[in-house]
Amino acid sequence: MNKLMQQHRKRFGDFEVIEFVDESEIAKLRAKTDVATPLTLNWTWEYGSEVEELRALYEKGKVNQWNAERDLDWSIPVSNDEWVLSPEASMLAQICRLMGKDEATQKAAAFDELGHTLSQLLHGEQAALQLCGQLTNVCTKMDEKWYSASQVADEARHLEAISKFLSRKLGTIYPISWACRASPV
Ligand SMILES: [Fe+2]
Repeated sequence: MNKLMQQHRKRFGDFEVIEFVDESEIAKLRAKTDVATPLTLNWTWEYGSEVEELRALYEKGKVNQWNAERDLDWSIPVSNDEWVLSPEASMLAQICRLMGKDEATQKAAAFDELGHTLSQLLHGEQAALQLCGQLTNVCTKMDEKWYSASQVADEARHLEAISKFLSRKLGTIYPISWACRASPV
């Protein structure tokens, strides 16, 4: 994977981006991540509420919806010249420090580490989105279907916020890593 990333890194404005131009690599990745998920589609004809707590959660969710585009301040600058993680929170920065690298290198390492970690979270959010979408089929009660549907919208917002932060502020969305494929969020 390192080889692939080095081959396809290039400058894009102030950022470095990773391009996937090798179709065979993409096909290999897809063969491992695209899986058949047969499920039972459960219809219900009871449109009233049967699970009071879930209906209350659904109502609460409608009132407190947030908008990633509107409610986040996207004008705040983010740069690898500054600490985006505390030095103690970045394993890569600490390794750079132990290797005697200067502070600028440590900050850049923390910046890359944050991008990689958030990228894995992003891929996990996509798993959550798809899983919750399936739940609307599998659930048997209408309250369950409504609530799982609202959770689908919430997972879409998580994806929106993280992908926009990565592309707009960090400049890189890293590929899914093997360690995360076994345990999606
Ligand atoms: Fe999520």
